Formats: sequence, C-alpha cells, structure tokens
Amino acid sequence: MMLEPDKRSYCFGVADKLEAERDLTDDEFSAVLLCDEPGFDEYLSEKARAIREKYYGKAVYLRGLIEFTNYCKNNCYYCGIRRGNANAERYRLSEEQIISCCDMGYDLGFRTFVLQGGEDPYYTDDKVVSIVKAIKEGHPDCAVTLSIGEREKDSYQKFFDAGADRYLLRHETADKEHYEMLHPSELSFDHRMQCLRDLKEIGYQVGCGMMVGSPYQKTEHLVKDLRFLQGFKPEMVGIGPFIPHHDTQFADCEAGTVDMTLRLLSMIRLLLPDVLLPATTALGTIDPRGREKGILAGANVVMPNLSPSDVRGKYLLYDNKICTGDEAAECIRCMAMRISSVGYETVVSRGDHAAFGME
Ligand code: 5AD
Ligand code: FES
Repeated sequence: MMLEPDKRSYCFGVADKLEAERDLTDDEFSAVLLCDEPGFDEYLSEKARAIREKYYGKAVYLRGLIEFTNYCKNNCYYCGIRRGNANAERYRLSEEQIISCCDMGYDLGFRTFVLQGGEDPYYTDDKVVSIVKAIKEGHPDCAVTLSIGEREKDSYQKFFDAGADRYLLRHETADKEHYEMLHPSELSFDHRMQCLRDLKEIGYQVGCGMMVGSPYQKTEHLVKDLRFLQGFKPEMVGIGPFIPHHDTQFADCEAGTVDMTLRLLSMIRLLLPDVLLPATTALGTIDPRGREKGILAGANVVMPNLSPSDVRGKYLLYDNKICTGDEAAECIRCMAMRISSVGYETVVSRGDHAAFGME
C-alpha cells in the first residue's frame, strides 16, 4: 500500500521539481495551486525572483499604455466596456492625439508603446497601419505593441509589415467550456486560439494570459492555462485578478485574490524563465501594493498609463481602477518609486524578449 505523502514536504518538493524541470503533472500543478502550507508562497516566490534576476537582473521594463478607444463591438460578460453597457461614456483618440501621447511618453523615457482598445471597427486596417507607421517614423528606436483584439490574419500581417513588433491578446481561459461561460456565443474559443497562432506565425512577440478568479474558474482550468502557456511559449504573459464591474452580469461575483495571482506569477516565471511578466493594473487595484508584490513574485514589467487624463476615467473594464486621475508624468514617477521601494529599478529600454535579441 502506498503511504500518504507528508503534505508539507510534498508541496515543497513539487515546487523544487517545477524549478528544476520546468514541468509538472496536472496533479502536481493543482497541488501547487492549492497548497496552504505556511511559508509556501515565500518559498515559491524566492525561486521565481532568483530566476528572473538570472535573466533580467533587477530591471523592470516600462510599457506606456495608450487606451485609444473604449468602443467595442463585443459583449464579453465580464467587461465594463462591452457594447451592451449603455452607461459607458465612449471616446476615441485621433491619430494626432495618439502620436502626441507617444511623443510625451518618449520624453518621459518610454521606449515601448502599447496601443490598447476595444474591438472598434472605426479603426480600419488602413487607420491602424497609418498610426503604427507614424509612431515608428517618429521613434524608430521604440517598439509598438498592439492590443486591439481579434482580426483576420491578413490584417495582423499588414500591421506587422507597417512596423508593429508585438501583440497582446489574452486567451482569457484555455478551457473551451469555461470560455463559453464568460463570452456570448458569437465569440469563439477556437477563433481566439487561431488568432494567437497566426500572430506567432507572422513573427510578432506575442502576449497572452488569463484573469485569475474569473467567474466559474476552477483549479483544473488554471492547470489547463499553465499547460497552454507551456506549449504556446508566448513572449509575454499578462495575468491579473478578475474584478467585477457594476454594469455587467458578473457584478455580484467575487474578485480574484492577490494571493492566487501572486502564486500564478511565480509559477509562470518558473515555467517560462525568460518570459516578460507584467505586474498589472488590476493587481494594483485589488491591493494598494499589488504591483510591488507582483514584482517580488517574479514579474518584470509594468505598464503605466499614458492616455490623456480626460479619457482615463472612461476606460473602465472593472470597478475602482487605479491611476485614472493622474497625469502620465506623475504616474511614472510614482511607479519608479514603487519599484525602487522593493529593490528593483525601472529602465529605459525596449525590453524585448531575450529570444528577440534587439537590445
Ligand atoms: N476584471 C479584470 N480584468 C478584466 N479584463 C476585462 N475585464 C476585466 C475585469 N472585469 C481583462 C481581460 C482583457 C484585458 C484587456 O482586461 O483579460 O483581455
Ligand atoms: Fe499611476 Fe502610481 S503608478 S499613480
């Protein structure tokens, strides 16, 4: 008869295995996700920090986030800017406004601009191409990241040819049934996954990721997420806690927790040692020191908001979002202080993934 393994030494042993082999069985992944032994989080995050420091030292990369439209043709159940939310005050930035955000961001030290928006057909392929080209012409030493949702492969190719370097498209959940509980039937899990594969094939540095603690999420879904990340090998993984938005059908659902988000950040760092891992705004929203804790759990990217202050308060995917009232300059100063308070430093660099070697 097999003896019940001692729970404590089992959990710590599995963490050692994750560090050494960058792989676990599904049961072992679950054990790490569920472990409630005292000292376990610190044990895991120490390993994650050691690996991130081996690859990236104490550097934290800055990405200037420009939320350029909150119009969205989709109706994701969790999202505050979904088309069905008649209470969302909509806005769009012109090409000139976007460029001037980048110019200001450049002077503040940003070398990556992330253009994020709802899925807004107003920004045709030609418009996106024109915006990307203008930014790259003005700042050839900068990387441009797009985060504008699902499009067809030929559109992604046009943006890439125009100079876009990276693309963020969270997979949201790697479980098809779970995906269908978070999205209306007009959105398809298979198409989202196809988009991710297309982006990779074209040559983008790709970011995917999921919400932590989204409605109906079970441990087995997170295990699938980890398995997906392991196989897909994205250059970046954006994760943050789910936070309910009062104008959605998930208004009364519980938010994801800081602890589970931090644990996943550490696990992802151990699984994909040189991945770019942001400490997200959502993490900073559920805990005043969430982003600092994220850095200590293995994250190495932060994305301060560069959007013009008059539209900031309108890009509300979830309730109580932080940094909506601050000028970009204040925001970046605050961020640099936060990062240095935990012994790390924000750097001026494109911060490409190691495999892209553009440093
Ligand atoms: N809580 C947390 N994250 C959210 N997102 C959308 N709505 C919420 C919410 N209520 C995340 C999604 C999306 C990214 C831009 O923001 O993962 O991909
Ligand atoms: Fe934005 Fe502190 S990081 S105000």
